[in-house]
Amino acid sequence: MLAATFAEYGPPEKLTVGEIPRPTPGAGELLVRVAAAGLNPIDCRIRSGELRYFLRVGLPFVSGSDIAGIVEAAGPGANRFRAGDAVFAMLPVKAGGGYAEYARVRETMAAPAPAGITLGEAASVPMAALTALQSLRDKAGVSDGCEVLVYGASGGVGSFAVQVAKYFGCRVTAATSGRNVAFVRALGADEVVDYTQGIDHLGPRFDVVFDTVDKLPFRRSRRLLRPRGAVVTTNPVAEWLALNFLAFLRGGRRLRSVFVEPRGTDLELLGSWIAGGRIRPHVERSFPLAEAADAQRLSEAGRVRGKLVLIVNGPLAGQRSPSAEPRWGKARP
Ligand SMILES: NC(=O)c1ccc[n+]([C@@H]2O[C@H](COP(=O)([O-])OP(=O)(O)OC[C@H]3O[C@@H](n4cnc5c(N)ncnc54)[C@H](OP(=O)(O)O)[C@@H]3O)[C@@H](O)[C@H]2O)c1
Repeated sequence: MLAATFAEYGPPEKLTVGEIPRPTPGAGELLVRVAAAGLNPIDCRIRSGELRYFLRVGLPFVSGSDIAGIVEAAGPGANRFRAGDAVFAMLPVKAGGGYAEYARVRETMAAPAPAGITLGEAASVPMAALTALQSLRDKAGVSDGCEVLVYGASGGVGSFAVQVAKYFGCRVTAATSGRNVAFVRALGADEVVDYTQGIDHLGPRFDVVFDTVDKLPFRRSRRLLRPRGAVVTTNPVAEWLALNFLAFLRGGRRLRSVFVEPRGTDLELLGSWIAGGRIRPHVERSFPLAEAADAQRLSEAGRVRGKLVLIVNGPLAGQRSPSAEPRWGKARP
């Protein structure tokens, strides 16, 4: 099968497309014919070698954690999906395997592809939307009426975070650069501010500051919080810092980090919100698999609005998934 792999760390050119053996699904796994693969900044950070001391991957490595496609076969003990089912999934970042014609997926990490959008769009959802959901629900514990600031609201995580926070009944202020104000307003934000003009004037009125891009120094985000409010950041280790303890001493404010978990139950929940028209992915641009390096170059520039997607199988990526039967029971928000 064709796959985009790198054999050594380095710039995007290290990512090349060639033939590798098709994987075989093990116990509890599915083999998925990939329609499209979503890009995430961590794909580039793994390829560049930036994370090599924290996150060791085997080389050559097939990049990519987000996929949507059709189940080709199920391994022993995998019984929630059948051949022919349309699914989307997040693969563990350390395993990769998404930028390829076929991917091995643990069935607990997959969910029926959401009805009403194409498989190409579905591939853009998993990691960014799971991060938004797990940050706001599990780390921040948002509920009806919470005042939430989403910082970096036009990116992959940010664009889902605005919509997920609205789903939970929060009042959302979104910080983005001037060129993305209209885009972020259309996602449902109640108030949009241009972060290039400063955000300190917003004052200490938020229950939750969600820094989706890990660009807001903690001393600044802390000043925007009410007492007992929480900052949540996508920097996975920030919570370990002494800053968290100091913030708690000064008014019970909390610093929380998210490290996204590839849970099929959460994906199924997000899929049901998409099918119900409550949230929607925005794909800024699609690239053929052969241009995976160009796609990563654009992702690395840091200005993506919504998501980027690699089209692995054009006809499949254009297919819409029919309404799906729940596979993980009735998942609760
Ligand atoms: N810990 C985890 O489990 C986890 C999970 C997912 C992602 N992440 C991390 O979270 C971060 C965001 O991921 P993503 O997928 O949302 O990235 P992304 O889609 O590439 O983010 C691009 C967005 O970032 C905004 N941006 C760039 N510089 C900014 C700044 N200085 N201030 C505010 N916004 C800025 C840009 O908006 P403008 O053009 O308007 O500036 C652009 O829309 C990445 O570092 C990623 O590695 C962590």
